[in-house]
Amino acid sequence: SRLPALLQAMPKAELHMHIEGSLEPELIFALAQRNGVQLAYDSVEALRAAYAFTDLQSFLDIYYAGASVLLHEQDFYDMARAYLDRAVADNVVHAEIFFDPQTHTERGVGMETVINGLYRACRDAQIEQGISASLILSFLRHLSEESAMQTLEAALPLRDRFIGVGLDSSELGNPPEKFARVFARCKELGLRLVAHAGEEGPPAYIWGALDTLQVERIDHGVQSEKDERLMQRLVREQVPLTVCPLSNLKLCVVKDLAEHNLPRLLAAGLKVMINSDDPAYFGGYVNENYTQLFAATGMGAPEAYQLARNSLEASFADDAQKAEWI
Ligand code: ADE
Ligand code: ZN
Repeated sequence: SRLPALLQAMPKAELHMHIEGSLEPELIFALAQRNGVQLAYDSVEALRAAYAFTDLQSFLDIYYAGASVLLHEQDFYDMARAYLDRAVADNVVHAEIFFDPQTHTERGVGMETVINGLYRACRDAQIEQGISASLILSFLRHLSEESAMQTLEAALPLRDRFIGVGLDSSELGNPPEKFARVFARCKELGLRLVAHAGEEGPPAYIWGALDTLQVERIDHGVQSEKDERLMQRLVREQVPLTVCPLSNLKLCVVKDLAEHNLPRLLAAGLKVMINSDDPAYFGGYVNENYTQLFAATGMGAPEAYQLARNSLEASFADDAQKAEWI
């Protein structure tokens, strides 16, 4: 079959990936050494062996521990350049990259250290490799709304270096309504709005993200199938869902990729596309997500084209840029 070659070659956007989730074990160890940070594992192999997750929280515990090696602007730069190199190899022409500032500021790392390192990596990759890349500041939903508001205020001097805000971390028990005021403030500021919803959480969290937070895209959203009225709305309003198949498999949201509902969501007319979420932890970058899902489900070239088109259309790139791609 020529399908793997098509999936590799087609230009695509990646709209749902966490830059801290692109830290490969080798880079975690290199940065730990460079910065004199002590890790709880004594080898790359031992760390990788710990990547056996049972749910979202079991992953988040290891993901936040891995991020503890990031201290200096150059660390954030090196991490993002490594991801952008891999994205270019997968024919990603545009990436919208989540970063979790609270994971770093809570350890005493400066907001400007985080944002400037990531921003400089995006700018250099654009100049040297032609990929366009933007940053989305994501609030940690297990922390308070007050902490999110303080994080926003700390980032505002660097407002021109990120395009929007998101909401991630532990979903169950942290509904979108908890962040109503901070999202309203972000909307006033003209920031683009997205939120994780319906990864493990119920359809009610997707309704809340749309109606209370007024987000423009839903990250994951795979639980929407449980609510027929929600499905109709997502089709009618063409709300993009940034789906992450290998993430759903590794975090036991689905038992088997063959049972993943992306083909059904796509066939029902939802604006879905494929993303990697945390590629260093879940077994592959974006093209690996495409090839494994296609191999497991029997989707073909028409679905491939539609998914790539959806990824470009659902991006926050400007219309002139989209017209060049689509
Ligand atoms: N942070 C990084 N990856 C995440 C995911 N899949 N869900 C929620 N928070 C995350
Ligand atoms: Zn995510």
